[in-house]
Amino acid sequence: MKYEPILLARIHKPNSHQLEGYRADGGYAAIEQALVDKKPADVIAQVKDAGLRGRGGAGFPTGLKWTFLPKDHPGPIYLCVNADESEPCTYNNRILMEKDPHQVLEGIMLACYAIRSEKAFFYVRYEYGTAYRALEAAIAELYAAGLLGKNIFGSDFHLDIVLHRGAGAYICGEETGLIESLEGKRAWPRIKPPFPAIEGAFRKPTIVNNVETMACVTQIMRRGIDWFKSLGVPPDPKNPRDAGSYGPKLYTIAGHVEKPVCVELPMGVSLRELVEVHGGGVWKGRKAKAVNPGGLSMGFVDVLAPLKGEDGKTEYDIPLDFNGPGKVGCLGLGTAAVTVIDDQTSMVDVLHNVTQFFSHESCGQCTPCREGTGWMLKIMERFRRGLGRREDLDILVDVADRIGIIPGTTICGLSDGAGWPVKTAIRKFRSEFEEAIRKGEPSRYAKPLQMVGAH
Ligand SMILES: Cc1cc2nc3c(=O)[nH]c(=O)nc-3n(C[C@H](O)[C@H](O)[C@H](O)COP(=O)(O)O)c2cc1C
Ligand code: SF4
Repeated sequence: MKYEPILLARIHKPNSHQLEGYRADGGYAAIEQALVDKKPADVIAQVKDAGLRGRGGAGFPTGLKWTFLPKDHPGPIYLCVNADESEPCTYNNRILMEKDPHQVLEGIMLACYAIRSEKAFFYVRYEYGTAYRALEAAIAELYAAGLLGKNIFGSDFHLDIVLHRGAGAYICGEETGLIESLEGKRAWPRIKPPFPAIEGAFRKPTIVNNVETMACVTQIMRRGIDWFKSLGVPPDPKNPRDAGSYGPKLYTIAGHVEKPVCVELPMGVSLRELVEVHGGGVWKGRKAKAVNPGGLSMGFVDVLAPLKGEDGKTEYDIPLDFNGPGKVGCLGLGTAAVTVIDDQTSMVDVLHNVTQFFSHESCGQCTPCREGTGWMLKIMERFRRGLGRREDLDILVDVADRIGIIPGTTICGLSDGAGWPVKTAIRKFRSEFEEAIRKGEPSRYAKPLQMVGAH
């Protein structure tokens, strides 16, 4: 697919992170113009009509979320920009922050103008030192140029952006965990409702949006609705609840590929094209066996499994839009971070590694998540030692099916994300697990570091 990047258009320019170059490329014209001839409601309408859906994982329509704020609230209203980006193999936010921070900051300014916020908190993953420093410098440039603070571009719009370094845990990316952490507390997600739009940071109405969502806002305000809707996939006419998958998307490719890379393509590129063309194919001349289509928590695609109703196609051919991964039993598009597992890697070992991650990252508030992720790891630890039992497979799927906000047993979606890789691995690659039980040999995969989970 031939496509000229927009979100990543500037990243290879020298000093792409600096204000001077960004302005020379037309940067901050969209906010300047909006302050002259658009009311906040017009900005919301443009983002809504463009069909932008959040890029942080859940795909919630951005403009619609903004309308959930209480009408005529005296303020303050806050924007929290979610740059926690801890989903394994996901790095699309990092590229934007390091290479083109002003594109993201302009989106924040537009979003704050739209929602009548005078303060944005930019919550950056603890480990992202380079991104943090790039943002720190970019925000300082804006203050020095008079483009942040009071009366921006001579208007009556005021805005401060506060950079906040994250607390180094996956759960800090869950929007209410992020808010708790921002408030200086342990990142324990809150029971919802109330949703943050009603009661968020410091108990004030708050919008939480992802970094890439902010970059999309900049481009929608600069290029218009028709441009955004000319890319991607329109709503499925057979599904009245589908909001479509419009616009450009940053996909990251990692794992067993020749060329791990972050690429920008229109929403809906096929998984096969992404890996085989943009990722340079599977490494060492091997073949792909399984793929995570959007971060570990989305579960696994079985590359060889036939795609129902599509002659000659396999799960490898699914489109990477908001609906595609769900059609093959995955949780969704997630972060669009594609991780490839080659045909010489044991799914038993992969699943051990995955269960270790989620058990470690469970915050421990909800018993089904705290205990369930711990049990799944303990069972997989048994497999690693060659002691897996036939009944373990059904226990694993049973636990995985019962933890999460979808079955209604937990506060947040971390546990859905912990269950999905387990159930898809076992349902789709069951024979590999049965073979491991039959052989009863310890895994040759190196014993991972012992980590202490929440249980
Ligand atoms: C365990 C967990 C981790 C999450 N991590 C992130 C993250 O790192 N970045 C992010 O933008 N959203 C993350 N989310 C989703 C956020 O809760 C929220 O939906 C998102 O920030 C909203 O932004 P958007 O509407 O622009 O996508 C996570 C959700 C869960 C359940
Ligand atoms: S589901 Fe898990 S991570 Fe989320 S609040 Fe409950 S224990 Fe914490």
